[in-house]
Amino acid sequence: HNILVLNGPNLNLLGTREPETYGSTTLTEIEELTKARADSHGFTIDFRQTNIEGTLVDWIQQSAGQADAIILNAAAYTHTSIAIHDAIAAIKTPVIEVHLSNVFAREDYRHHSYVSDVAVGVICGFGAQGYLLAIDAIASMLRNQS
Ligand code: DQA
Repeated sequence: HNILVLNGPNLNLLGTREPETYGSTTLTEIEELTKARADSHGFTIDFRQTNIEGTLVDWIQQSAGQADAIILNAAAYTHTSIAIHDAIAAIKTPVIEVHLSNVFAREDYRHHSYVSDVAVGVICGFGAQGYLLAIDAIASMLRNQS
C-alpha cells in the first residue's frame, strides 16, 4: 500500500514556526518518523508540502490509482478552501485529516474545517505524533477492508 501525505502552507517552516504551538520537530523529521511508521506496516509513503492551494487540489485529484489513502494537513486552507473540500469529495481515496495543534482550543476561525465532513476521521492536538496515529488508523482501516 502507498500512502500520500500532503502538507499545506507554512508547514515547511516547522521547527522554527511558533514552536509553542507546533512543537520543534521539523517537517523533514516528521517525514522520517512517518516513513518509519509506514515501513513498520509494510507501507510506502509519498510525503509532500506546498504553499499553493491549487497544487493541493492537483495532488488530491491525481491520487486516484497512486495512493490507497491520503493523510492531509491542509494547514490554513483547512479553514478556507472549498476547492480542497470539492477535490476530496470528487475522489474515492480515503482522507485522514491531521493537525499538529488542537484547533478547537485555538481561535474561533480555526474551529471550522472544510475538510472534516469529507474526511474519514480527524486527528488533532497530538503534534507530530498525529501523523503516526494516522498511519496506524489507515493500517487498521485497510486491514478491515481486506
Ligand atoms: C494546522 C492548524 C491550522 O489552523 C494552521 O493554519 C496551520 C497548522 C496544524 O497542523 O495545527 O498552519 O493545520
